[in-house]
Amino acid sequence: MTIRMRVPVRPSVEDITEYKPGKSVKGAIKLSSNENPLGASPEVVRAIVGRLEAGDLKLSVYPWERNEESLREEIARYAGVDVNRIVIGAGIDGVLDTLVKIFIGNGDEAEALIPVPTFSLYESLVKIAGGTPRYIPRDRDNNFGIPAAALISACNDKTRMIFLSSPNNPTGNCMAEGDVRAIAESVPTAMVAIDEAYVEFADKSLVNLVNEYDNVLVLRTFSKAFGLAGLRVGYAVIPEWLASIYNKVALPFTVNNVALTAALTALSDKEHLRRSIELVQVGRAYLEQNLQGLFTVYLSEANFVLVDVSPRTAREVFDALLKKGITVRDCSSFRGAGDSFIRISVGTQEQNEKVVAALKSL
Ligand SMILES: Cc1ncc(COP(=O)(O)O)c(C=O)c1O
Repeated sequence: MTIRMRVPVRPSVEDITEYKPGKSVKGAIKLSSNENPLGASPEVVRAIVGRLEAGDLKLSVYPWERNEESLREEIARYAGVDVNRIVIGAGIDGVLDTLVKIFIGNGDEAEALIPVPTFSLYESLVKIAGGTPRYIPRDRDNNFGIPAAALISACNDKTRMIFLSSPNNPTGNCMAEGDVRAIAESVPTAMVAIDEAYVEFADKSLVNLVNEYDNVLVLRTFSKAFGLAGLRVGYAVIPEWLASIYNKVALPFTVNNVALTAALTALSDKEHLRRSIELVQVGRAYLEQNLQGLFTVYLSEANFVLVDVSPRTAREVFDALLKKGITVRDCSSFRGAGDSFIRISVGTQEQNEKVVAALKSL
C-alpha cells in the first residue's frame, strides 16, 4: 500500500513566506547580501587550514565546551560586557530562533511588535512560533525613524518581544538611545531585542543598555564586518537572568568547530576589521554622494544604502542592473517598503564605481 496525502501542518506554518536571500548570479558583482567585500581575514583562513592539518582542529569531534567559553570570553572583551551575558549561536538567525522560542507562542494579540520595513526573519520566526506580529510603519519622511510613542501605544501587557534593528536593514538608520530607553521603560514585560548586525559600521552602539535594563538584549554577528557569513556565527548580549533559560532552549553545538576557530581568530585580527570598516565607510559616502541627485538616497550607518528609484520600479532597476552583471536587492519583498526601493551593498571601490556608472546609464 502507498499513501499519497499531506499530513496537516500547523496553520501558522502555512502562513509564512520563505526567506529570500539576496540574489547570487554566477559571474555577477554581488551587492545584494551586505557581505564583506574584503572577504574573511587571511589569518582566519590560515588558522583553519593550519589547525586542521596539524590535527588540533578536528571535524570528527563535537565542539569542545572550553572552545565555546574562550570565544564567549573574547566576545565579552570585544563588546565590553560581562562574559555571563554572552550567548552564541549559528548567526543572529540562530540566536533569534532560540530567543523567539523562549518568548513567543502564547497566541496573544500584539505578542511581538515589528517596526517595518525591516529584516524579514523577525516576522517569519514569530509566525513559526505561533505568534501574531503587530507591525508599526516607520516614518519614511524622517529617514525611516520609528515613531516611539506609536510603538509604545501599540504594546500591551501581553507583548513579549519588540524588534529594533539598529542600524536597520534595509533603511540603514540607527535607533536614538532615548527612544530605546523610553520603550524599555514603558513596556517592562517585553524583551526589547536590538539587532546590531551592522553596528561596526555605525558610530554608536546601544550595548551598554543591557547593563541597565533586564528587558533589553543586543544581537551581533560575525557575518558582516568580520566577513564570516558562510560560517554562521552570531551572539547576543543578554540580561543575566535569561542566560540559563537560553541555554536550556538552544540546540547543543550550534556553533561548529571550524566556526569557533574562525570567530576567535577574526576577533584577534584587528587590522582586517579596521580595513573592512574603513572600506565600507568610504564606499558608502561615495555611493551616497554619487547617487544623490540621480535618486533619493537614505543616509545609512550600515554597509549598504537604500535608494528610492521612483518613478521607476525596483524590479525594473534590478533587472536592468542584472543585465549589466550586478545584483542588488529589490526591496519590494520587505513588508511596508513599497515597490520603488533597492538596497545596494557597499562593495570595493571598483564595484561601487561600476554600480554608479550602471545606474547613471539607465
Ligand atoms: C538586521 C539583520 N540581522 C541579522 C542578519 C543575519 O545575520 P546572521 O548572518 O548573523 O544570521 C541580517 C542579515 O542580513 C540582518 O540584515
